[in-house]
Amino acid sequence: MSTHPLPPFPAPTTTPTGVRAGRSLSALICAVAVGAVTACAPSEGAVAPSPAAAVAPASPGAGASRGTMGAPGIGDPDFPSDGNGGYDVQHYDLRLSYDPASRKLAGSATIEAKAVQDLTSFDLDLHGLAVSRVTVDGGAAGFTRNKDELVIEPGRRISNGDRFAVAVDYSGVPEPMRDSANLGKYGFISTPDGAFVTCEPNGAKTWFPSNDHPSDKATYDFQITVPEGLTAIANGEMTGTPQTKAGKTTFVWREKHPMASYLATMTTGKFQVRTGTSDKGLPIYAAVADSFHGSLDQLFTETGKITDYWSTVFGPYPFSSTGGVIDDYAAGYALENQTKPIYGGFSPEPTIIAHELAHQWFGDSLSIGRWRDLWLNEGFATYAEWLWAEHAGQYTADSAFRRYYANAADPMWNYPPGTARASDLFGSAVYNRGAMTLHALRREIGDDKFFPLIREWTNAHRYGTVTTQEFIALAERVSGKNLKELFDAWLFQPRRPAPIT
Ligand code: TRP
Ligand code: ZN
Repeated sequence: MSTHPLPPFPAPTTTPTGVRAGRSLSALICAVAVGAVTACAPSEGAVAPSPAAAVAPASPGAGASRGTMGAPGIGDPDFPSDGNGGYDVQHYDLRLSYDPASRKLAGSATIEAKAVQDLTSFDLDLHGLAVSRVTVDGGAAGFTRNKDELVIEPGRRISNGDRFAVAVDYSGVPEPMRDSANLGKYGFISTPDGAFVTCEPNGAKTWFPSNDHPSDKATYDFQITVPEGLTAIANGEMTGTPQTKAGKTTFVWREKHPMASYLATMTTGKFQVRTGTSDKGLPIYAAVADSFHGSLDQLFTETGKITDYWSTVFGPYPFSSTGGVIDDYAAGYALENQTKPIYGGFSPEPTIIAHELAHQWFGDSLSIGRWRDLWLNEGFATYAEWLWAEHAGQYTADSAFRRYYANAADPMWNYPPGTARASDLFGSAVYNRGAMTLHALRREIGDDKFFPLIREWTNAHRYGTVTTQEFIALAERVSGKNLKELFDAWLFQPRRPAPIT
């Protein structure tokens, strides 16, 4: 049917992970570990939980109750100590100062939260760094450290429903997370001239005390001070012009829309910046490390064009600006930091920009409540790559689907993407079989139901937390069809589904 050639996307057989990159991090890890691409094939017994048996999503306060002690985890079955229970964060006010020469970060974080149970103690997540002082509503509070948990004892009991503000003063040399979740290094990564800060899934705690789990979203204010001549880039928009005093410049950023902690950034270094607006009038902030100066205009232009296009396909853009950052740290991967995806050491192809910008809807505006539902982020963003390629006249989504389907030996058939594994969260099944799930759905219900469904999905859950079950239910409602078998075969069975028609 297609007049297009076969898709020129990277051959699936040489790309064992889905992580979108010039060069894949997990692929590197696998290659180092075993020296073969198959090292990334699922190694655990293939389990196929039925969708109906799925556990409730993690939600603020959902962690196991311990009397009036807030739980040390928010209740994610696969990441039991991530996030915390007993409260719900509304806002982070982060005042940060970073000195690349000494690699020292000094921070003062004020966290505004609401108790969802009575609390005599509660936790924040913090990895390393020395805490010098904690206050709750201005009064000195006790605190202890236990691994990555900062346990806080306010002087008085906080009652269920109370709003409270906890302030934490801290400093030290941030250490990124290493090898957790099969991801290599992530979190706060120092560079010669600053820092490359990419925190998925749980690296926000490497630079600020947080409820570090996507099921507790909050708004953010950042005030970041760096040596004069450097740029500090965070989420949302800059409020006012940077102020320089005594050789240091302070940048003030505000993200006024709810954001998951892993999408927060304070990327700093020598950057060239271009600002302006897209054709539809959306503000754009593009920044590139000096060595990528030749990519600044293309990053700026493609980012505006793609954001505008996605707003016609996925529904209104959820945030107040768009953008992108190319740093010279050779991570080889990209991350969908809210309002400003970051590209680690490469000039991204438009399809990669399309992937990261699609995440602004899928992952950033609509966030998952537990990591095993990650296909709702990566499957959608990968399908967006195919849609972009089709829009740009490169290859069709259908040809991409068929090319993956044709490889019966692909290890992704053993990995049901509807249950992303903590030990291999960003595997190729979550990305590619996740995208194929959407294509199978589209073919089953037709374009006239599929695209309205996607827009209804982003509209109904804007800034919220979503589950796979909610998507299946909405797909059934919009299409008027029973889709349980389709989703079960594509998301939850450890085998290649029957061909689509
Ligand atoms: N979500 C990223 C992507 O588009 C991949 C990713 C996962 C990542 N964890 C990360 C990137 C940590 C940087 C840091 O596909
Ligand atoms: Zn992605």
